[in-house]
Amino acid sequence: MEDFIRKLPKVELHLHIEGSLEPELMFTLAERNNISLPYASVEEARNAYQFTDLQSFLDIYYQGANVLQTKQDFFDLTWAYLLRCQEDNVIHTEIFFDPQTHTQRGIPFATVVAGISDALEKAEKELGISSLLIMCFLRHLSEQDAFDTLEQAKPHLDKIVAVGLDSSELGHPPEKFSRVFSASRQLGLRCVAHAGEEGPPANIRSAIDDLHVERIDHGVKCASDRKLVDELARMKMPLTVCPLSNIKLCVFSSMEQHNFLYLLKKGVCVTINSDDPAFFGGYMTDNFLAVHKALNLTRPQLVQCTMNAIEACFLNQKNKKNLLKIVESYY
Ligand code: ADE
Ligand code: ZN
Repeated sequence: MEDFIRKLPKVELHLHIEGSLEPELMFTLAERNNISLPYASVEEARNAYQFTDLQSFLDIYYQGANVLQTKQDFFDLTWAYLLRCQEDNVIHTEIFFDPQTHTQRGIPFATVVAGISDALEKAEKELGISSLLIMCFLRHLSEQDAFDTLEQAKPHLDKIVAVGLDSSELGHPPEKFSRVFSASRQLGLRCVAHAGEEGPPANIRSAIDDLHVERIDHGVKCASDRKLVDELARMKMPLTVCPLSNIKLCVFSSMEQHNFLYLLKKGVCVTINSDDPAFFGGYMTDNFLAVHKALNLTRPQLVQCTMNAIEACFLNQKNKKNLLKIVESYY
């Protein structure tokens, strides 16, 4: 079974590129850019990755991103993630980046996008991995800051498929960003948002009704509202679930307590993703293995996860069909 999971073609829809910064690369970039780190060693950094909730993680995650300064840094970060994709048989990936984390520090938007997209193009050519890029607004910052970021994105819209919403969910409900999401849609961008990670089911409803999202990132808190679960299934609203992340951030007390299988059986379009793999202890295969081990997913259920991700991805119908063929030929 482990071998089956390793070789299963996978599609990732929820990955923060800054969250794939492994401590080894963080140290390399800190040295390259003359930045001091609050850790004496890679081991000390890894030991510090103990979280009690989302905010305790975000504080460390934003600090780590400070080492990213140049186009080459963003290229190296993205390329390292894509090599992990190759190992895990990820055939398509849709990557989040947080422009405000970098522009706030004086790094130009163009530097960030250029480094990431050069790596994505190289991966398409050399590794056969397709990808799309999603720009996230940080929800703890103001609506105006999000509008300024959208303005900065305008020269780069050929490289960006969608906007997302991430960072601290509690106290920053989706409706705060209704207008900037509307403006994004008018520019042809698709919409997704983190909702129901730590926050209430009302945030999931707001993401759907106010932001008009096509996918919910996380969404696992829907389960406390049975009617919402049924609606999500009926609407075929995809949830990009991140199992290891949910355990690390104490959303569930153990993987055995995770509601992934419940949602799958309810007919919700759930997918498996890695979120911030350098901080949460695993990439795509690790997440599939952890869910299978704790919840005993069958082979057809595991294949369904990839099928769901293909259905939920932002590729055109022709490219989706090509991905489906790859999965069908596998089993
Ligand atoms: N930014 C990076 N990872 C995140 C997560 N899991 N939730 C919200 N914002 C994030
Ligand atoms: Zn996330």
